[in-house]
Amino acid sequence: MLNKVAVVGAGNVGATAAQRLAEKNLARTVVMIDVVDGVPQGKGLDQWQSGPIEGFDARVVGSGNYDEAAGAEVFVVTAGIARKPGMSRDDLVKTNAGIVRSVTEQISRVAPKSIIVVVSNPLKTKAIAEAKIKTDKVDAEVLAQLLRCDFLPRVWEPPVATQALRRVTARRAALVMDKTAIKNRVHAVLHQRLIPCPFSDLFGVQGRHWLQALSWLCRKVY
Ligand SMILES: NC(=O)c1ccc[n+]([C@@H]2O[C@H](COP(=O)([O-])OP(=O)(O)OC[C@H]3O[C@@H](n4cnc5c(N)ncnc54)[C@H](O)[C@@H]3O)[C@@H](O)[C@H]2O)c1
Repeated sequence: MLNKVAVVGAGNVGATAAQRLAEKNLARTVVMIDVVDGVPQGKGLDQWQSGPIEGFDARVVGSGNYDEAAGAEVFVVTAGIARKPGMSRDDLVKTNAGIVRSVTEQISRVAPKSIIVVVSNPLKTKAIAEAKIKTDKVDAEVLAQLLRCDFLPRVWEPPVATQALRRVTARRAALVMDKTAIKNRVHAVLHQRLIPCPFSDLFGVQGRHWLQALSWLCRKVY
């Protein structure tokens, strides 16, 4: 499981991608970023609240600020606009290319080593945009042809050693988060019961022995 995955663009594709990532517990935190204030926050909250019903633990948050996505291992870029009346396909390509450029600049600022998956690459998929007949079947065929000719940009995959190091680092960060959460929970239960801790370090050797004696605490924390 990854520690953090960010989805840029909280529209139809972005919100669905975020929901799927969370439902499949593919990341501990899923961050949705969008330029429209309130939209990613609202959708993020809705999705997170569906966790207990759908049975996933991932945290889903929305923001307009890329700092929220700092350190994410993977970015899924779905930001873009749909063609408006009076807008030519060339105008659309230009606009979306500008959006993808500004998005990647922000990503390289907050997570320079992340893997970027661009759902819509406006320049390379121009062939699809300009197709006279546009159906999923035609699009799929054009994409297959582009892939065959090696015209599709590839997702950068880090070397195996870097991938292994990332997994270890992510696992370690996750364990530290779990440890902190359990410690906080123990403190909260003691506060709730107005039980003062007799030691300065509750989780030192003496503190742990003292905690062990409080057998009921285990039932309360777990
Ligand atoms: N590759 C595919 O198979 C496929 C399929 C469907 C859609 N798409 C493409 O994916 C993109 C998204 O589609 P959609 O249906 O979700 O559109 P949408 O309009 O529902 O969502 C796009 C979102 O991107 C946001 N956005 C715009 N500029 C942004 C920026 N600079 N930074 C952050 N967010 C920004 C918008 O506010 C909006 O919420 C479109 O470009 C579409 O063409 C690709």
